[in-house]
Order: sequence, then structure tokens, then C-alpha cells
Amino acid sequence: MRGFEEIETVGVVGAGTMGNGIAQVAATAGYDVLLRDIESEYVENGLAEIDDSLSRLVANDTITENEKAETRARITGTTDLDRLAATDFVVEAAVEKMEIKRDIFSDLDGVVDDDVVLATNTSTLSITTIAAATDRAEQVVGLHFMNPVPVMKGVEVVTGEKTTGPVTDLAHAFAEALDKETWESDDKPGFVSNRILMPWINEGIRAFDEGVATKDDIDRGMKLGTNVPMGPLELADHIGLDICLDATETLHAELGDRYKPAYLLRRKVDAGDLGKKTGEGFYSYDR
Ligand code: CAA
Repeated sequence: MRGFEEIETVGVVGAGTMGNGIAQVAATAGYDVLLRDIESEYVENGLAEIDDSLSRLVANDTITENEKAETRARITGTTDLDRLAATDFVVEAAVEKMEIKRDIFSDLDGVVDDDVVLATNTSTLSITTIAAATDRAEQVVGLHFMNPVPVMKGVEVVTGEKTTGPVTDLAHAFAEALDKETWESDDKPGFVSNRILMPWINEGIRAFDEGVATKDDIDRGMKLGTNVPMGPLELADHIGLDICLDATETLHAELGDRYKPAYLLRRKVDAGDLGKKTGEGFYSYDR
């Protein structure tokens, strides 16, 4: 296995919100990063989001203009998966569809050196099933970042059925090198984070749909009552309603009816109202 000290170049697959956030924090930590997506438009959008995020960090004096330029210069966008042959550690952050992730891992397995660890940012899908698409299941691990990645401190390390101890240790060490703090979960549906978070969000949506309170009162109630930064409906819009629906459907399929997605969640996703990213969710946003 390629060890922590040998990691110089990090591959990130998927330039969406999570992928570009992971690329940014890896580059901030001093790694060279190859950020790959299937279309150049997605890569460009990801790089533009990184620019915006770094500018916010300059604006609040977290980094200097010079550090922003240095960080940005360490990130190279590409649509060519073969370029990830040059990487020492890979984090996949593509869409939450098992077949897509398995295809990516099978392709990565053929491209990346045999001793390189492949991590997935999946939020609910089985690490063991994703790993089985490769010939290096013992070197596949879950590395689940939280959104927005540059701001959120926590990263969940998820051990698949075959993940070895040194690979798990490497995942913790890598996350800590990105200035994150970790916790560990077994490869059970939703892990620790979404097994507990998604039912909370789902119940907030049901409470709204069933007229328990207005959406503002549900969010205010949870914020004032439990000191969380966002209520369930705001947080659903922040995460993306499509992602909440995918995660809740996985939990429902694996764990039964107590996780059945709220009717209103499915209806909003069907209507294309996915939260902040489309400008419309439970609340309206100026895009
Ligand atoms: N890049 C850089 N800086 C950012 C940023 C980004 N993408 N997003 C926010 N910030 C900075 C802002 O510039 C701001 O900095 P200053 O206070 O120094 O000016 C600070 O973070 C706070 O941001 P805002 O003022 O815009 O708004 P806020 O105070 O409401 O904080 C929030 C925003 C950090 C998102 C906060 O509301 C929060 O912590 N919400 C909960 C988020 C959460 O729970 N995330 C996890 C979701 S679960 C998940 O991701 C896993 C999954 O599998 C679904």
C-alpha cells in the first residue's frame, strides 16, 4: 500500500459540490490535485466554485490572495481518467448511483497503480459493494466529507468488509492532513451520519406536509430548540433534495418502512426543485 508520506498527488473524481470542495481542501493542504469529470463544462464549473470559495476565505482573512493563487495553481482539471495514473491517493465523489460508482471504481482499478488506495465519498452506498468492482477491495475505504467541505470540520471514515486496518488508518491520516477531524463507522446503511440525519430531515418534511407548522416554524423550532445551525428544511435545501431523496431511498430499501421518503420530498424532486442549487426548494434562492 502507498503510505501517507508517499502521497503527493491526489485524484478527485467528480467536480460537483463535494468533489470540488475536496479538491480545494487537498490543494490547501499542499497536495497537487487532478480534478476529473466527464464533461469539460462540469470541470470548469467545479473550478469556478473553488475560485468563489477561495475568494470567500480571502474576504474573511482566513487566507491571503497569495495563498489563494498558490492553492488554485495546485489544482488541474481534466476529463481524462487516464491522467489519474499519476496519483497517489484517489477520492471519488461522483453521483450517488451504485452502478455509476462501480463503473468508476472498475475503471480506476485499471488506471491507478496497484498500491494506491481508492476512497469513496459516498454518503449511504455500501463500500463493500463498490469495492467489489475492483481487484483491490482491501484498499477501498469510505471517506465521507460534509457540505460545505471547506467549512465543515468532520469527515466520516467508513470501513468496508475487506478494508484493512492500515488503509483505514491512512484514511484518518489523510483527512487529518486536510485539517479535518474524523470518526469511524462500519459499512452499514447511512453509516453514522446519514442513518441519523436523514430521518430527521425526512420527518421535518413530513411535519411540514402534514401541516404541523409552517416551514419557518419547523426550522426555527429546531434551531432555537436544539441549537443546530440549520433546521431540517433549510438543511435539505442546502444538501440538495435529490441527494436527500437518494439517501433516504437507500435507507428505506435496506432498513424498511421507518425510512420511507416523505411524499413531498419525492414530489419536489420530480418537479426539479432541488434546493439551493436550482434556486427553488422549500425556500426560494436568488441564484
Ligand atoms: N467556502 C468558503 N467559505 C464558506 C463557504 C464555502 N463554500 N460556505 C460558507 N463559508 C464561510 C462564509 O464565508 C462565512 O465566513 P465568515 O463568517 O468568516 O464571514 C462562514 O462560512 C459562515 O457562512 P455564512 O455567513 O454564509 O452562513 P452561515 O453562518 O449560515 O453558515 C453554514 C453557513 C456553514 C453552511 C452553516 O449554516 C452550517 O454549518 N450549516 C449546517 C451544514 C451541515 O450540517 N452540513 C452537513 C450536511 S450533511 C452532509 O453534507 C453529508 C451528507 O451525506 C448529506
